[in-house]
Amino acid sequence: MLNFVTTNPGKVREATAYLDDEVVQFDFDYPEIQADELGPVAAHGAREAYRAADGPVIVDDAGLFIDAFDGFPGPYSSYVENRVGIERVWRLTEPEDDHSAAFKTVIAYCDGEGFAATPDPGGIDREERRGQDLAADERGGATMDTQVQGDEDALPVKLFEGRVPGEIVAPRGEGGFGYDPIFEHDGTTFAEMSTDEKNAVSHRGRALAKFSEWYATR
Ligand code: IMP
Repeated sequence: MLNFVTTNPGKVREATAYLDDEVVQFDFDYPEIQADELGPVAAHGAREAYRAADGPVIVDDAGLFIDAFDGFPGPYSSYVENRVGIERVWRLTEPEDDHSAAFKTVIAYCDGEGFAATPDPGGIDREERRGQDLAADERGGATMDTQVQGDEDALPVKLFEGRVPGEIVAPRGEGGFGYDPIFEHDGTTFAEMSTDEKNAVSHRGRALAKFSEWYATR
């Protein structure tokens, strides 16, 4: 059994399509660290949750990155959704020339054990790596996995990223959750898509596909 650590049942609904009955919601609200990237936030959450759970955990940390605002709200998306609301995020973006944005997610897995070696991101020059990530992003695929092992005592965590490009639009659609009504991909907002349609193109779907493939070998 795999614990999906979240207070958001929408995320678990999307994960079930990839992990069937294997995945259960673990409603645990861990304190999030503040960081400008999603990876460290998700990794920290996975370690915290693993200590509280009775088995393997995944944490999904997502964010909306709006190009006109240099990636804002990014890792602060939850705070902005709660304080400002998605309608006003749309109205802030509307006067800008560029409405392009991306949704990104990082899934962090922790089961208290180490993992078989994966391509070591630490071994690649940072500039070169940025180029690789960008190339993946431009293909629209953008999934990569990383093993993060911090200090001696830190639990190993494996990360899986997903990204989807889109546009910020006036709210449309009744489905999904969060920013889905104002995030349009190929002419349709995520809130106008079924779970299967969203999974087929979304940041989370891409990360889950990569994760479930790896997890099946575990
Ligand atoms: P978190 O990953 O749960 O911290 O989510 C960060 C913010 O992004 C919250 O405001 C969520 O509602 C929103 N969010 C996360 N995933 C999605 C998604 O797939 N669609 C729309 N909004 C999302």
